[in-house]
Amino acid sequence: MSHSQQTWEADDYAQNARFVADLAGDVFAWLDPKPGERILDLGCGDGHLTHKITKTGAEVVGVDGSENMIEASRKLGLDAHVMDGHALEFEEEFDAVFSNAALHWMLEPEEVIKGVKRALKPGGRFAAEFGGSGNVAAVVTAMHGVAAKRGGNPALASQWFFPSPPEYQQMLEEHGFEVVRIGLYPRPTPLPTGMRAWIKTMCTPFFAQFGDDMEKAIDDALELLSPALQDWQGDWHADYVRLRVEARLP
Ligand code: BEZ
Repeated sequence: MSHSQQTWEADDYAQNARFVADLAGDVFAWLDPKPGERILDLGCGDGHLTHKITKTGAEVVGVDGSENMIEASRKLGLDAHVMDGHALEFEEEFDAVFSNAALHWMLEPEEVIKGVKRALKPGGRFAAEFGGSGNVAAVVTAMHGVAAKRGGNPALASQWFFPSPPEYQQMLEEHGFEVVRIGLYPRPTPLPTGMRAWIKTMCTPFFAQFGDDMEKAIDDALELLSPALQDWQGDWHADYVRLRVEARLP
């Protein structure tokens, strides 16, 4: 995972966002890895899921923009490298490129798609899941409310790429992929460590702008979000909507 203003601490990620990898069963099934295949995991994070792919007998290379995450991946014994997802350095090496919960951090999607295409062998496949249109809409709306109240910059509230299926399909097709299947999958997701911890892990650039008042700004956001995302027991969920895609090269 990489983002220009977002840095990742592997421990913080493991505590507050590990469930993202734990919930990736569907895209894993769409990847359908086979023994002996060479697979690139684009945005491998702390390697939790990459490791799971290796268990199928595939040979997996993980790349991520964060040194912390690559260090954590290597501790699992993975072949993992720091690399910008917009500038993948592979040429016709992989049977498949896989990506979970990473592509929404990469704000130049055409560059990413070009790199995925270059990395794949002819006939290779691309199986990915990430935030699609409407993802965390309540959270983004709450951040706009906080920006309006506190004089913050609302543009920092949604620095992610959350495309609709037709938009992403068109991009893939323009770069020579055939889309096998694509869809949006709403996935209200329990947050085991709560919304405050999730916001601090995921929305740093927006809330950092309030400096010493950051905690108060988060309090404002929690108040706005509570009717939509907190249940009667006080437990929180995030309003995730995943875009899942399988595409192939001719
Ligand atoms: C996501 O995985 O959908 C996500 C992560 C961080 C911020 C927003 C969405």
